[in-house]
Amino acid sequence: MFPDHSFAPLQLRGRQLLPIVQGGMGVGISAHRLAGSVAREGAVGTIASIDLRHHHADLIEQCRADPRHETLAHANLVALGREIEAARRLAAGNGMIAVNVMKAVNAHADYVRTACEHGADAIVMGAGLPLDLPDLTAGVDIALIPILSDARGVSLILKKWMKKGRLPDAVVIEHPAHAGGHLGVTDLADMSNERFGFERIFEELDGVYATLGITRADVPLIVGGGINSHEAVRHWLQAGANGVQVGTPFAVTEEGDAHPNFKRVLVDAKPEDIVEFVSVTGLPARAVRTPWLDRYLRNESRIRTKIGQVKNACPTGLECLSVCGLRDGIEKFGHFCIDTRLAAALRGEVSNGLFFRGREALPFGNAIRPVRDLLELLLTGSARPAVAHRAAFALN
Ligand SMILES: Cc1cc2nc3c(=O)[nH]c(=O)nc-3n(C[C@H](O)[C@H](O)[C@H](O)COP(=O)(O)O)c2cc1C
Repeated sequence: MFPDHSFAPLQLRGRQLLPIVQGGMGVGISAHRLAGSVAREGAVGTIASIDLRHHHADLIEQCRADPRHETLAHANLVALGREIEAARRLAAGNGMIAVNVMKAVNAHADYVRTACEHGADAIVMGAGLPLDLPDLTAGVDIALIPILSDARGVSLILKKWMKKGRLPDAVVIEHPAHAGGHLGVTDLADMSNERFGFERIFEELDGVYATLGITRADVPLIVGGGINSHEAVRHWLQAGANGVQVGTPFAVTEEGDAHPNFKRVLVDAKPEDIVEFVSVTGLPARAVRTPWLDRYLRNESRIRTKIGQVKNACPTGLECLSVCGLRDGIEKFGHFCIDTRLAAALRGEVSNGLFFRGREALPFGNAIRPVRDLLELLLTGSARPAVAHRAAFALN
């Protein structure tokens, strides 16, 4: 059993869970090993659905031999199914296995369907308003968890979903000033706006819940972004959150599904190396200023003026996003292939990859530790000593 801790469980669809949600991290950063290991301890482990082919050599080979869009899209659904099944085996019935689906992704409805077919316990949907999620999962017993950033967004989803006769099983509220990956704000300058403050959101939602006649037992709130210590977990759970979502600290655990170089880049990043920029989705994102991102950002305004409005064929053929700055020639958006860059990061290609990361320091500094140690530290304030003799690893 997990060591004693003082927090109330997170209750989702009748299950009692540790109040910690491991955030979904694409491409391939949170696949079956990470999500299954987190769930095995009794928390929520999340598989990021986007482009999981990269973990399956046979599927990559199939796609090389037949690079048509349909082959690539199908390979991704096969990969997602395999990852969910492997995570469920690892979890052995404990915790919950969630699948993160980005609304901005072309294949979002197929990912949701595949997650349902393979027995995922929850769908967590962000990067766009998940207005159609109840329809996509009609008749399936699965928890539905939207990711939003402010009370207005939560209120809108609650009202729209209630008209469909469905409540979210929980809502994740992610703070754009701290989280890693794509950020839920249209303008970077707006990132620290006080409407994103968790206390303010709790207060505003108290009113909304009362008007709608619902309580936190119906729709628990999970906050995420920069939660990196026991003190932070305790602070937010005492301030009114029902759970916390944690991303970057899980990405760098031993069980994290990325190459060791990926983890090294994240743990070794200094505060000044962590930057925000506009992604090809049009949303701001946060990542480590590694060589490729540094080159891109130095040339960003030149790239925009020279080729910003030029439409390009999708370089991978995956057509991953429904709207893409590079393919659709949208000047204000980013102009690079996000799938190529994120896949390179997953493989540990330090000079070519795009390494998403949250803004805050990591709980174990630059040490790579097991999932269990991280959960223990977050929930109790102390973790067992690091195992001696573990092979040290450094980037050259
Ligand atoms: C490497 C990386 C990839 C991410 N990918 C996704 C994703 O595919 N979908 C998503 O909804 N959130 C994504 N996120 C956000 C995380 O799920 C999580 O909410 C966020 O990182 C929390 O902030 P923290 O990293 O400070 O804990 C990503 C974050 C990181 C660090």
